[in-house]
Amino acid sequence: VCIRPAVVADLLQMQRCNLMCLPENYQLKYYFYHALSWPQLLYVAEDYDGTIVGYVLAKIEEEASETHGHITSLAVARSHRKLGLATKLMTAAHAGMEDTFAAHYASLHVRASNRGALHLYMDTLGYEYVALCDREAQYYADGEDAFDMRKPLAGFK
Ligand code: ACO
Repeated sequence: VCIRPAVVADLLQMQRCNLMCLPENYQLKYYFYHALSWPQLLYVAEDYDGTIVGYVLAKIEEEASETHGHITSLAVARSHRKLGLATKLMTAAHAGMEDTFAAHYASLHVRASNRGALHLYMDTLGYEYVALCDREAQYYADGEDAFDMRKPLAGFK
């Protein structure tokens, strides 16, 4: 499996991977919007036969004076989990945020019940709760709460 920057030709397969892995789904035009706006922040995990088995979709938000990156969506196919692919995809997106956009930090939202993702974000990647147990009440369409998390980046000058 190789990790490489996503290209427009990958977007349909990224959307397919998202549909198989997560209940938060997006129209294809939202993938295009990311790919055209922040091509440095989209990565895929490609299997030997060309199948996309993981992706990270991220963007830049410029609120006030503090530019920061935001992870819109991350998923790895069930068949390819616990191989370190999500860690590599996230590390590549963080590097793009730092190197290209001088982002001060990376942010994301995650379901309060998503233990695997919480382990990845907190223990492996160094994300922290914005405030301890700060949940944005009923963030998701089905009523579940989200944790709002951040990781400082070293990119800003
Ligand atoms: N339970 C406990 N720990 C886990 C789990 C799990 N289910 N999955 C991964 N981990 C741990 C690994 O053991 C590893 O720990 P280590 O660094 O201490 O060795 C660490 O998390 C990183 O594991 P990776 O192999 O890099 O992660 P993986 O490629 O398996 O992908 C992911 C993790 C993305 C959460 C995957 O399980 C998945 O796609 N889940 C469904 C979609 C999802 O929940 N996406 C995130 C939503 S939030 C968002 O998109 C912003």
